[in-house]
Amino acid sequence: MRRPILLLTLTLGCMGALTACGDRTPMPVHVVPEPATVVPETGFFEFSERTTFAVGDDEQAAVAEAFAALFTVPAGFTPRVTTDPAAAGDIRFETDTTRTAESYALHVTPTGITVRAADRSGFFYAMQTLRQLLPAALEGSRAADAAWRVPAVRIEDAPRFAYRGMHLDVARFFMPREHVLRLIECMAQLKLNKLHLHLTDDNGWRLEIKRYPRLTEVGAWRVDRPGVPFPARRNPAPGEPTPVGGFYTQDDIREIVAYAAERQIEVIPEIDVPAHSNAALAAYPEYACPVVNRYIGVLPGLGGRNADIIFCAGNEQVFGFLQNILDEVLELFPSRYIHLGGDEAWKTHWKTCPLCQARIRREKLASVEELQGYFMRRVCDYVRSKGREVIGWDELTNSRLPEGVIIQGWQGYGQAALKAAAQGHRFILTPARVLYLIRYQGPQRFEPVTYFGNNTLQDVYGYEPVQEDWAPEYESLLMGVQASMWTEFCDTPEDVEYLLFPRLAALAEVAWQPRGTKDWPGFLQRLDTFLPRLDAMGVTYARSMFNIQQRIEPDGGALRVELACIRPDVEIRYTTDGSEPAADSPLYAEPLRIEGPVTVKCATFRDGCREGEVLELPLDFNKATACPVLGAGANGYVLVNGLRGSDKYTDSEWCTWEPGKEVSFTIDLGACDTLHRFTAGCITNYGMAVHLPSQISVALSDDNRTFTEAASRRFTPAEIFREGTFIEDLTLDLGGRTARYVQVRLRDAGPCPENHVRPGQSAKLYLDEIIIE
Ligand code: ACM
Ligand code: ZN
Repeated sequence: MRRPILLLTLTLGCMGALTACGDRTPMPVHVVPEPATVVPETGFFEFSERTTFAVGDDEQAAVAEAFAALFTVPAGFTPRVTTDPAAAGDIRFETDTTRTAESYALHVTPTGITVRAADRSGFFYAMQTLRQLLPAALEGSRAADAAWRVPAVRIEDAPRFAYRGMHLDVARFFMPREHVLRLIECMAQLKLNKLHLHLTDDNGWRLEIKRYPRLTEVGAWRVDRPGVPFPARRNPAPGEPTPVGGFYTQDDIREIVAYAAERQIEVIPEIDVPAHSNAALAAYPEYACPVVNRYIGVLPGLGGRNADIIFCAGNEQVFGFLQNILDEVLELFPSRYIHLGGDEAWKTHWKTCPLCQARIRREKLASVEELQGYFMRRVCDYVRSKGREVIGWDELTNSRLPEGVIIQGWQGYGQAALKAAAQGHRFILTPARVLYLIRYQGPQRFEPVTYFGNNTLQDVYGYEPVQEDWAPEYESLLMGVQASMWTEFCDTPEDVEYLLFPRLAALAEVAWQPRGTKDWPGFLQRLDTFLPRLDAMGVTYARSMFNIQQRIEPDGGALRVELACIRPDVEIRYTTDGSEPAADSPLYAEPLRIEGPVTVKCATFRDGCREGEVLELPLDFNKATACPVLGAGANGYVLVNGLRGSDKYTDSEWCTWEPGKEVSFTIDLGACDTLHRFTAGCITNYGMAVHLPSQISVALSDDNRTFTEAASRRFTPAEIFREGTFIEDLTLDLGGRTARYVQVRLRDAGPCPENHVRPGQSAKLYLDEIIIE
């Protein structure tokens, strides 16, 4: 639902980002990423079939022609482009060699447009800005009644970072070629300039290599595990059909690379070594360590112990194999940078492999970690010997860094990359904790299932890569930032787009805008103008930014219900009578105090229209509700806040503890009471090793000193390690005893058994609620 124009006008009027047109209808200047300076002027320029571009050379002509072609379908005309120096032209490209790379100046007046830039990318970005100043209908099919006007404005613009990246994992989910092309088109509009293609992993090899056809005949295809989430999928058995996958032919890659280059985007291929290589090793198992004695297949999921199967670092032929592959990669990708991975290499087999151990002795290496350093240095040196530069994940800082390598910081907030910076290496930041778009983008109960916690649109927008405590030289080594799109939970291109948008627009602002210019409400206004462009292109995006996150805490025997939405420009309306919230429902202005069972329903509204999902909070009151929880940690309040968790154990309503330790906490009921039944809400998420406890017991006391066990239950491994995702209530009979203090003791299930998808990993325990009746 779009907001009515009147409010748009008023809001923008306050921002001073308008210009009055000839007919006095204000036209907003909203561009993502926001240009460095925007000075609105009076009037507008209108494109028509008579519009002519006058450009200086063929390179500029190509940029202008690509822009002019945008009009052909929606407008029914195509502006003309001429390189004739005598031509006047309505839109003039002027080369200005004093400008910095990628920068541009754009001056729109009612009678013409002037564009100044030093290079092709500057002219291209000026056109992308102009594009966003035109109606969104430009991105769609025939729009006969659109006015092809842009507001008069003077814009000076240049990027903050030279590296403005999007990573796309096409290994976990094979993104068809035409969808990659459309993403490139979106990236270009957002002035992103690096597409890091994660082409190889345990779950698929996506690049045709002529010399090794089995890489795609075998490595591009995996077993189907319908309906099973990625982390819970079991490994393939020999001979199982492998119908799921796909790969890019070399012609596909040439097309993608050329399409990207026309849009000033460098495609950086990643061939991930020595780990994440089960797909390659399924095709050519002779390059795994000879001590590996299990079946190597393309993995449909995490792989359990098969994720430890990596290239052998002692087998000389492995290096020949990789060099031959890289020869074809270098031929296909003219990029300055080649990514060689290096992440998450478990050394299980290297520790026992005679070839790897011989290499360690021969090269006088101190450890298997140094063996990885040796491996990476050899492969990196090969790529560098061909005149290219190498990027690797931040695990490369665990041993001596290859010469000249550029480190991509991903773990946590990306700090590991600073170890490389301290040694003078350049780096790129894509911290998982902020820029991994696989994480949830809003209140989790409304989101499709994915991994871990939240990286909201606001988190991404608010990210400032340069930290106060950095050594001064680090900033000059920082090449830029990248959003990383891992696709473990994607089954369709729309799933990928949903996770990418609108967060990629926020990343674009992080990458482009000068430091210290963040303006969250301003960004949302720009985004509201940008999103209809995605609509016109048919690109899927999330509206999670309109959803409400609750925080419900005990408050003196009642519940304090706090509701929040990351958008400051919406109202939250709520009901407590079971009806659907409407525009005239009570306005949420401050936390609600709830004293008895009730269902709160709430949603966000703007200009009388509902924007987000309806959040339904059925608040139960039992004897434990809103009571103090002693010894359960900071999050213990969720156990007694009257609200059950969703089926996402990472949402805000689940409480967990460090694995391996006995859990004990006590609920103070405030006064002695007769107790019949105890219930603990528990969740199983098999793929993430979230399981029932092995034991739960309840002891009662009048004085919080002397406790008497009232009931206990034990669970067998067969009861605990069940597959699936489900919430279960563990109940205990308290037999009508009287007590004030209820002590709960739990033991988690310990290591997952060998036949689990996470063999040997510690099971985790999550409870959402304690119910005492
Ligand atoms: C990574 O997320 N393993 C780079
Ligand atoms: Zn080996």
